Amino acid sequence: MDQPAQSRACAGERAAREGAGPQDAAPAGGGPPASAHGDTPRFERLAAAGAAQGAAHVIEELGLWQRPAGERARLLLNMVSTADGRATLGGRSGPISADADRALFHELRGAVDAVLVGAGTVRAERYGRIIPDPARRALRRSRGLSEEPLACIVSGRMALDGEIPLLAAPSARVVVLTASAASLPGPAAHVEYVRAARDGALDLPTALAELHQRFGVRLMLCEGGPHLACQLLADGLVDELFLTLSPKLAGGAGHRGTRSEGPGRSGSQDAQALRILAGEELQPPVELELLGVLRSGASLFLRYRVPARERQRHPIG
Ligand SMILES: NC(=O)c1ccc[n+]([C@@H]2O[C@H](COP(=O)([O-])OP(=O)(O)OC[C@H]3O[C@@H](n4cnc5c(N)ncnc54)[C@H](OP(=O)(O)O)[C@@H]3O)[C@@H](O)[C@H]2O)c1
Repeated sequence: MDQPAQSRACAGERAAREGAGPQDAAPAGGGPPASAHGDTPRFERLAAAGAAQGAAHVIEELGLWQRPAGERARLLLNMVSTADGRATLGGRSGPISADADRALFHELRGAVDAVLVGAGTVRAERYGRIIPDPARRALRRSRGLSEEPLACIVSGRMALDGEIPLLAAPSARVVVLTASAASLPGPAAHVEYVRAARDGALDLPTALAELHQRFGVRLMLCEGGPHLACQLLADGLVDELFLTLSPKLAGGAGHRGTRSEGPGRSGSQDAQALRILAGEELQPPVELELLGVLRSGASLFLRYRVPARERQRHPIG
């Protein structure tokens, strides 16, 4: 049976359409003008603005699908992290996530033309159909979108078994982005290929441009994982980051070992202690602009823009 990926999900925000500031970043109670403080950092209390809203309303207000067509596809990156920066617990993101995070994750899927995900995540999370729910499909149609976003998988080795629910679903439409000339062996899903190679490796900017031109993808949601996300940022391809900060502390990734086991402990625990970005260091770091903040329970939902100047400073190559 088709199952939605139970991974995790997104960060949202409220009325902040593109360009709007955080929903509630009004300074608390006036105070002296900034100039009176010189360069001293200022702090604003994030006060609640209006009644609490459901995930559907939050995403509806962003109107993501109404954005005009650009010359390239826009890319939203959606990740979840523990308060100490872990992107997985026990090799999955689900344990970090909570209901509110999952709700926004699925609402974001409802707004985009394509979902982009690395093969590592597809394997770990056993990805299923992107929109299995008929009501959500109908909502997409009413927005002038296809019933389901195109499921786009990035892979080098093409080691994706046909039993992964997404690939085993005959009605699923999947695009594999790869530098390889190989094809997946007989998946039930309808699979097409974007093959874009540069020096033997996948050329992500070219592959995304082909998704835009060949498949009409205007707005894309990347759901990770950390290795793919880092490369997309390094290539200057990410427009926004939706980051859920989950109220958990998980530790791990201790290269100096634990108190009980002494120095040098590594191996499986470290391998699982991924952060939301993995791979090459982004140099210089990408500077983000805050677009919005929401709270649900003790979880924070942060929405950031990657300014054009930052996208242009990368690729770092
Ligand atoms: N916290 C979160 O928000 C979040 C989100 C997503 C995933 N996760 C977790 O992250 C873990 C997976 O991490 P990951 O970083 O390994 O996942 P990933 O980025 O999804 O997958 C890495 C794999 O994607 C393919 N790939 C990525 N970039 C490529 C490129 N430029 N060219 C060709 N292939 C490329 C390769 O697949 P091949 O091996 O097939 O060549 C590579 O091994 C899972 O445990 C998952 O639960 C967490």
